[in-house]
Amino acid sequence: MTTTVSWVDEAWQQVEAKIARTSRRIGSGFPHASHGGTYDLAAPYWWTAGFWPGLLWLLYRESGTPEYRQIAEACEEQLDEVIKQFDRLDHDMGFMWTLTSVARYRLLGEEASRRRGLLAASLLMGRYNVKGRYIRAWNPWRENEDNSGVAIIDCLMNLPLLFWASQVTGDPRFSHVAIEHADTVLNHFIRPDGSVYHIVCFDSATGEHTGYRGGQGYAEQSAWSRGAAWAVYGLALCARHTGEARFLEAAKRCAHFFIANLPEDYVPHWDFRLPAGVPRYRDSSAGACAACGLLQLADLVAPEEAGLYRSAGERILHALYTHYGAWDDPDEEGLLLHGTSNYPENSNIDVPLIYGDYYFVEGLAKLKGRSEAFW
Ligand code: GLY
Repeated sequence: MTTTVSWVDEAWQQVEAKIARTSRRIGSGFPHASHGGTYDLAAPYWWTAGFWPGLLWLLYRESGTPEYRQIAEACEEQLDEVIKQFDRLDHDMGFMWTLTSVARYRLLGEEASRRRGLLAASLLMGRYNVKGRYIRAWNPWRENEDNSGVAIIDCLMNLPLLFWASQVTGDPRFSHVAIEHADTVLNHFIRPDGSVYHIVCFDSATGEHTGYRGGQGYAEQSAWSRGAAWAVYGLALCARHTGEARFLEAAKRCAHFFIANLPEDYVPHWDFRLPAGVPRYRDSSAGACAACGLLQLADLVAPEEAGLYRSAGERILHALYTHYGAWDDPDEEGLLLHGTSNYPENSNIDVPLIYGDYYFVEGLAKLKGRSEAFW
């Protein structure tokens, strides 16, 4: 499939038309999942807080629409209250501040945003366990729960905040931590076939690897597709920031698994290893995120290899646009239908998800030639 500029431009126009409408209702809220056509607004300390402002920054970068900038800035400023309660924050500070403060700093050079990003990066770095060489994922979800030894695949997408912090300060400490964590992912998360574990556990006192837990995938040994997407994009970004071949090779292995397991219409099921009888909902957000990772990979590999990743990324985005978009439904605020947030917890299944929308728009921007990302 060759890039057909026309469908990308058409999709971009559809995105702009919908966001022009939805931004008036959502304003500087923090949408997460859409139910009955309306995005639920989440609390700003939820891990998804960056995606709406990040999406608006993507649009602002092309159009300069002042309302989008104002909303994105208002979202970022609300996170100032959130970071004061830093003990409530987990490793997803990377998602949250990369798409708010880092995005604004990259676009506008705003000093206050640089400081916010660096504060978040410092807190993220503080979650590093030196013995186990991993960044702790979560705080306790319930009283007396010990999550001090838990690391999750999603964290790969938090690492760009650390690479950015080293870049702007000239201090390699942040990158050192990112690279150590990424090496732990290579050692413990990625299976020989390129599928990944969601949750890996360590003894937080000794650093010893103790096992795995089932998470948002069907089972411990299954292959949660959004986790696979975090791996493809996260490892490709590690390769971009470090130039290290081992991260590129791992990203390619995960990408090959992802591509080989796509169904005929190129949009993944929520898990690639589902036993018979389990509902095979799609997860459009996994497709959109993986597409961004595949397009990033295409920019990193030798020209003779690039076509494989570029065409796979483009096919996924085209399929999402053609068969999963809510373009014809003026009553639906989401851009992409059929996302699955957390099937095991029966949460937000088969609905639009703000991170699916974000990565879809980032993917379109890449196809329009914007190879630089906020990550
Ligand atoms: N980072 C949580 C998720 O992917 O749902």
